[in-house]
Amino acid sequence: MPTKATNQVVDLSKVEEIIDRTVGDNPYELMLPIVQAVQEEYGYVPEAATDLIAGKLGIPVSKFYGIITFYSDIRLEPTGAIQIQVCDGSSCHVLGAEAIRKAVERKLGIAIDETTPDGRFTLIPADYCIGACDLGPLVKINDTFYGKVTVGQIQAIIDGLRENRNEGEQ
Ligand code: FES
Repeated sequence: MPTKATNQVVDLSKVEEIIDRTVGDNPYELMLPIVQAVQEEYGYVPEAATDLIAGKLGIPVSKFYGIITFYSDIRLEPTGAIQIQVCDGSSCHVLGAEAIRKAVERKLGIAIDETTPDGRFTLIPADYCIGACDLGPLVKINDTFYGKVTVGQIQAIIDGLRENRNEGEQ
């Protein structure tokens, strides 16, 4: 079964540091940079961190949560070390992104926004252009871009990542 939310105990000291070093007068302008920095640090934004940030900024938790869940880039659950995005912006969509995404889903046994049971792979939503339309269909795996990807190629790439436990993992 794919994994979804987990209640992990998280060391929030880094969150405190991030809040302290992010300065400004408007709490609503501060929240996104703080949340992005927390995600950069932890790989996602733990629930305890959202409570802490909202409290420090004086923003009601429900309002805070409503704002950050608007951004599809903000991850509220732990992600795998290998993060796959199949661009589904207009150009990639026309060039066959859906077939590539379905191939990834079949290969890994997960849907968008899910992580494999071994915790290694997460399929991240990318319903917007990720920046190289002339290379579509474009797939991003961690920091590496794969252009003009075919179904056979993405299957082989995933096979390669499965075999080599360290390749591509952060
Ligand atoms: S639409 Fe996919 S890279 Fe632009």
